[in-house]
Amino acid sequence: MAILLAGGAGFIGSHTAVELMDAGYEVIIVDNFDNSSPEVIKRIEEISGKSVKVYAVDATDRKMLEPVFSENNIDSVIHFAGLKSVGESVSLPLKYYRNNIGSTLTILELMEQYNVKNIVFSSSATVYGNPKKVPITEDMPTGGCTNPYGKTKFMIEDILQDAAVADKNLSVVLLRYFNPIGAHASGRIGEMPNGIPNNLMPYITQVAIGKLEQLKVFGNDYDTHDGTGVRDYIHVVDLAKGHVSAVNYCENHQGVEVFNLGTGVGYSVLDMVKAFSKVNEVEIPYKIVGRRDGDIAKCYADASKAQEVLGWSADLTLDDMCRDSWNWQKNNPDGYK
Ligand code: WQD
Repeated sequence: MAILLAGGAGFIGSHTAVELMDAGYEVIIVDNFDNSSPEVIKRIEEISGKSVKVYAVDATDRKMLEPVFSENNIDSVIHFAGLKSVGESVSLPLKYYRNNIGSTLTILELMEQYNVKNIVFSSSATVYGNPKKVPITEDMPTGGCTNPYGKTKFMIEDILQDAAVADKNLSVVLLRYFNPIGAHASGRIGEMPNGIPNNLMPYITQVAIGKLEQLKVFGNDYDTHDGTGVRDYIHVVDLAKGHVSAVNYCENHQGVEVFNLGTGVGYSVLDMVKAFSKVNEVEIPYKIVGRRDGDIAKCYADASKAQEVLGWSADLTLDDMCRDSWNWQKNNPDGYK
């Protein structure tokens, strides 16, 4: 029985493929390679020592996607396929709704047609909007998303909830990621942002390697210990292992279950800069500038439900995250190019 990774050549998908293969699963990757490179497949096979079946197709295209279901015996789907730039989603909302919602509907229709009953969805803490309090628990209100990207995640959770009401045999696990960073210890797979990075860690590593001059710290007047934004950074390998636990759970369960995948600890922007500089012995010049639109002060998880129900928790430390992020960047200055 195989696990289908829709968007499996991406940052989270590729790390999850490695952990699933290490756990003995057969993995099939679907990716349109818009936001990733076929080189990732070679790296996954190199790390795992096993071959991966790949379909270079767009998950919104039912005709192109159907052979994946008709040619394979799929047990579960992990749905990573989605555009994920907050800023881009504001300027190109239709592209985001078409791609993120459309791929979900196509996948669900084919799952129904081929009697595939398990789906794990790559959701995001962004569905909590601006939380009233932290740490965030799964039963806290969602919605109030401030950008089309976040709204697609919120809407897809609703679509999956409705699909599970209509089909009592459907098993849905919603994984709300906090801030994934880091890379596989081998340095052979990692994050490859398009153009200038929006996210903090890839921006820091590009400053460290000299591709960017200095980090702009978006505001130091938030209600946090040092005024800069606080987030729950989680090592991508811990996150990937969370998906293995989620697939195991999903295959032995019905209905919908939601899990925060975070560490439960919040670090500020300046905490991250200091930790990165210390562990990698490299200076990160920065300048405090104004707040970024849509940013919130604090966002970190109560991660106890995943521990109690999935038996999963994040083990890797902030130093591991900083060390592995830098190792990836140093060994792949231009990503997979
Ligand atoms: C983290 C902190 C910034 C860049 C986003 C998405 C979320 C998820 C993760 C996909 C904030 C500060 C950042 C910079 C900075 N993506 N920062 N200078 O905004 O928490 O979450 O990425 O699922 O859905 O919303 O992550 O890394 O962009 O920012 O000061 O150049 O770093 O203000 O406090 P964010 P981020």
